[in-house]
Amino acid sequence: MAQNAPSWIANLRGGFIVFDGPDGGGKSTQFRRFASLVSAAGVGVCEVREPGGTEIGEQVRRVLLDPHNKEEIDLNCEMLLFMASRAQLVAQRIRPARAEGRLVLADRFISSTLAYQGTAGGLSRDDIVNAGKIALRDCWPDLVVIFDVDEATASARMNPLLRPQEFAADKDRIEARGDGFHKRVRQGYLEQARLDPQHHVVIDATPAPDEVFTRLVKAIGERFTTPR
Ligand code: TMP
Repeated sequence: MAQNAPSWIANLRGGFIVFDGPDGGGKSTQFRRFASLVSAAGVGVCEVREPGGTEIGEQVRRVLLDPHNKEEIDLNCEMLLFMASRAQLVAQRIRPARAEGRLVLADRFISSTLAYQGTAGGLSRDDIVNAGKIALRDCWPDLVVIFDVDEATASARMNPLLRPQEFAADKDRIEARGDGFHKRVRQGYLEQARLDPQHHVVIDATPAPDEVFTRLVKAIGERFTTPR
């Protein structure tokens, strides 16, 4: 371990943490910072993003997010495509990395499907969890960190005129869904945290990124006080 690194970082070896939340919550920035903190402390990190993260998964990502898709995707088809991409990611990257003692950090995972296709889209939690049992097998996250923002802040951050250059592209097919949809997405995440507090932590992502990062590190440290 590097000097000055918090001692609990060693407990992340072989662990699996998901960063998730509504679009516009700033989770990807926090993801990069946290990955740097952990690897600087000498713990290997496997970073994955969903949908995608493998060659096959990236092809599925294009089908799922292309705003120029002419046909409306059936909701069951959409959910199963997310799950198919996830099955590939688990087999090819997540399970091997954990076995090697690296920390897996995922930008979105099954919690996104439960919020977007479940609470917001209308599919039942049971259907999604059952499909997840096939895609994930024994590989469920230790902790899901939810970056929570209210709709007004999220949509301001998603506005192409206001958001940073790296996010200035067109909205993808799912981002482009209306305000009502995104409100339900947020409720979906909060409900997951309520149902299973042991595996979730909610971080208020409204403050400035430095403050959010401080709270994030504190919250993760509290959950990994002992080796896994
Ligand atoms: P991204 O913006 O984090 O790359 O995610 C792409 C979009 O896909 C985002 O709007 C959330 C959505 N999504 C789902 O609807 N279901 C899922 O299971 C996942 C992983 C993402």
